[in-house]
Amino acid sequence: MKAPDASLYLHDLEPSIAEFRTAVFEGLSKPRKTLPCKYFYDAEGSRLFERICEQPEYYPTRTEFQILETYAGEIARLIGPHASLVEFGSGAGIKIRLLLEALEQPRAYLPVDISREHMLAAAADLARQFPDLCIAPVCADYTQPFALPTLHDLEPDTQVGFFPGSTIGNFTPMEARVFLGRTHTLLGNGAMMLVGVDLRKDGAVLTAAYNDAAGITAAFNRNLLRRINDVLQGTFDLTGFAHKALWNPELGRMEMHLVSQRVQSVYIEGRRFDFEDGETIHTENSYKYTIPQFQQLARESGYSPVAVWTDTRQLFSVHALRAI
Ligand SMILES: C[S@@+](CC[C@H](N)C(=O)[O-])C[C@H]1O[C@@H](n2cnc3c(N)ncnc32)[C@H](O)[C@@H]1O
Repeated sequence: MKAPDASLYLHDLEPSIAEFRTAVFEGLSKPRKTLPCKYFYDAEGSRLFERICEQPEYYPTRTEFQILETYAGEIARLIGPHASLVEFGSGAGIKIRLLLEALEQPRAYLPVDISREHMLAAAADLARQFPDLCIAPVCADYTQPFALPTLHDLEPDTQVGFFPGSTIGNFTPMEARVFLGRTHTLLGNGAMMLVGVDLRKDGAVLTAAYNDAAGITAAFNRNLLRRINDVLQGTFDLTGFAHKALWNPELGRMEMHLVSQRVQSVYIEGRRFDFEDGETIHTENSYKYTIPQFQQLARESGYSPVAVWTDTRQLFSVHALRAI
């Protein structure tokens, strides 16, 4: 498929509506109802996520941006010239600009994201800013095996994976190992992987970050129900579910839930799902790691930790890992 910008060709592996339906039916049939967080991100979900990033309580985005801004030169020296970059969950593509500006003659940029229209718009913007760069957007679900497009006549000196936003925290530690193992296979031995990881910290700071006063995270959470209504003829009353975000200290993760405000039944493509008053749908986890914890997880996934950068308040970390 041709992307909106004439110079971009989309490698389109977007999950089908059938996969969405299966995931929703499976998740809502469990004794403890769940929905996969990857389905937050349709065009509206991506737009809401960008607004979350602007909220004063939501420190991760601006903190990671500051770290990358401060250390972009050091990171670029570590990577070297003529790199090809694959960004997992590229979103608005804001942070990659810092790297692309600092790198010596980067060869190619492959954003990978499940939110197709949003990614294409971001890729088209980047193409305007970096006209000499080969940009090859890939719409795919990175929790499933997928192949990258072959870029002919491009021989990068280094393959680099970039996974910012602490999106790795959406996986359980076991899932994170599987994901990192998959990136290792995609990028190959010797590749560099840069991962943004939110650090363990006071539960109050975390809880505030996921409960912004403007209610944008709540809208983002509920948007999943709106998407089910739109795509799968759901009958969710969005006002019948409250946003709840809590710190789970035993598991070291923030959890997001949608809490049913009364006894109610919802139909999705004619199939009935019953909710008790106070019953929750678990929609997202965001695991937080200490630096040694994450480095150990990286080692268990075939990577060797090379460097780590943090902000002065030790809120967030950016790890450089080498695929071995
Ligand atoms: C937390 S946001 C981070 C966005 C951006 N990288 C940043 O640092 O601000 C997660 C991004 O990953 C994408 N995403 C989430 N799950 C995905 C999946 N399973 N496969 C591909 N992309 C996914 C979303 O569409 C979104 O752009």
